[in-house]
Amino acid sequence: MNKLWGSRFKKKTHPLVEEFTSSIGYDYKLAKYDALGSIAHAKMLGKTKIIPPRDSAKIVQGLQSILKQIEKGAFVFNKQAEDIHTNIQNALKKKIGKAAEKLHTARSRNDQVVTDLRMYAKEEIKNLKSKIKDLQFALLGFAKKNITVVIPGLTHTQHAQPVSLAHHCLAYVEMLERDKGRLCDAYKRCDVLPLGSAALAGTSLPIDRNYVAGLLGFSKVCANSIDAVSDRDFVLEILADSSILSMHLSRMAEDFILWNSPEFALLELDEAFSTGSSLMPQKKNPDVLELVRANSGRLYGNLVSLLATMKGLPLSYNRDMQLDKPPLFNSFENLNGCLGVLCGLIKSAKVNRNQALILSSDELLCATDLVEYLVKKHISFREAHSIVGKVVSYALKKKIFLSEIPFGQWQKFSAHFEKGVYGLLNAQASVAAKKSFGGTSPQGVKRQLLGWEKRLRD
Ligand code: ARG
Repeated sequence: MNKLWGSRFKKKTHPLVEEFTSSIGYDYKLAKYDALGSIAHAKMLGKTKIIPPRDSAKIVQGLQSILKQIEKGAFVFNKQAEDIHTNIQNALKKKIGKAAEKLHTARSRNDQVVTDLRMYAKEEIKNLKSKIKDLQFALLGFAKKNITVVIPGLTHTQHAQPVSLAHHCLAYVEMLERDKGRLCDAYKRCDVLPLGSAALAGTSLPIDRNYVAGLLGFSKVCANSIDAVSDRDFVLEILADSSILSMHLSRMAEDFILWNSPEFALLELDEAFSTGSSLMPQKKNPDVLELVRANSGRLYGNLVSLLATMKGLPLSYNRDMQLDKPPLFNSFENLNGCLGVLCGLIKSAKVNRNQALILSSDELLCATDLVEYLVKKHISFREAHSIVGKVVSYALKKKIFLSEIPFGQWQKFSAHFEKGVYGLLNAQASVAAKKSFGGTSPQGVKRQLLGWEKRLRD
């Protein structure tokens, strides 16, 4: 097979080595970017007269027809050619003959592969951000549909205070927004052109890197040729951002799994987004959510895999870095899958409102409201906390609800308790009172909903 480096060798490469070092099995995904990068490079070689403009035009034409084939899915990848660069170079040679040999002037696969990868990453980041936005819209829709629903808010997976279900969902919208922000940052780091760094040292030929950057839509060119071929921190940054995003999706999945369990019975998944059991005929399982929950493990693995690969590598390019691609491809694929399926699942899921009422009827959820009631009467927070602690302990001992404590007894705990105290023992009232900025009051939730609708539409 036509290698890009064969002439120095007298012996044929061992077939095991061919197979072991080959990357075409996965870097075929970069085909489009490789062709685009080569087109820009060839144009620059012609413009600067490094190669005759006639050859440049021939190369560009040949590559354009290869690009069309790639886009149609008609390009035939040759498994025997070690990587995508060799594949396209060989295809070009076949198409246009000798002129193809001038394409690799003033570049190396080291700067070529990382250019392809940066272009790929930029496009995938854009796709991912739009998928995250879709999920934010799905969560907004779900929050809006269930705007009046109050549920027990949990800390330590124990009843804490009543919260609006919409408020809970909007917490994820916030997290997803930060995920997008992190990806925007990563995008900026991807948006720098390495091509023209050649193998590691630059070139003595009069190339025009800014011209290539303009053609390929890069904002800047890498300022140090060694850094350009050695750096994979743009990939690591995406993998780190993806890990954090997947962690958020995993937590969301877990919340829904809990809510969907018969013990909570708060959420009903649509049958189209549920699965069954081969043994137990009655089962309707949240496998989709479980796989979303689990996928974060793979994403963390991808990050750790590349961190470990890169650690201690001497500058500049090392073949180790070929293994940056499978984790990156896998992370994007996984996240696209998770985001798509979560969107559909959320849009079709139904909330059991009656059950929300039952769950949030636990009067102990309002214990903190009692503390704040006393604080408003100028009792110190610590003392108020201690008084209400005693009230709770009394009710638990007597096995009665707080609302069943006779008024005279309340007054024994504190003379500051007035009849109005009974009105506090209600989840809706508790939520309505949380008017502080960022709190769970209906006004607060409406303000967030409106804010997000505007922000996401802009
Ligand atoms: N396939 C390699 C990679 O993914 C690019 C080729 C560079 N190879 C080389 N021997 N310099 O990193």
